[in-house]
Amino acid sequence: MLVLGLKRRDRSGEMAREHAALIEALARLVAAADAACLGAAPQAVIAPLLADPALLEGRALVPSAKRYVRHLLHADPLGRHTLLALVWQPGQASPVHAHHLWCAFGVVSGVLTEHHFAPGDPPVPTCCRLLGAGACCHGPAAPHLIHRLGNCGTTLAVSIQAYGAAWDESGQRVNDIRAA
Ligand SMILES: [Fe+2]
Repeated sequence: MLVLGLKRRDRSGEMAREHAALIEALARLVAAADAACLGAAPQAVIAPLLADPALLEGRALVPSAKRYVRHLLHADPLGRHTLLALVWQPGQASPVHAHHLWCAFGVVSGVLTEHHFAPGDPPVPTCCRLLGAGACCHGPAAPHLIHRLGNCGTTLAVSIQAYGAAWDESGQRVNDIRAA
């Protein structure tokens, strides 16, 4: 079992403040995304979250040999957004997909590779880029923005992902899957 950070300490007041700050950051993220995901606003919110060691402190981020694993960090009570930590073993990747709803993500540790595709049946690979720790990106709902995120490296990778959907809808309602 992978446990990131130091052992959880008895500091409930500090944790409450950190949780409130996280919710506030997510509220700003949603406000930016609701404005058609303009500019780099969601990315600007993800970046400081990546630099906050408290975000994943003490969380058991268990990987799986079958596929990358999604761990819930925060679910908006009104179902407007969800924040997840994803754990990727080497060789694991998402399907090729576009987004029905906005998404923002950042790399906490390890290296992820993002492949881009042009629309087609099947989609046509166009380029790729490496995303190391601290890198963050965002994307609006756009049928022509097709990509695949995966761990092509040799060590475990962890990312955080924010979606404009409720937790129980954050898979099928967000991703417009184009290929396995
Ligand atoms: Fe995506």
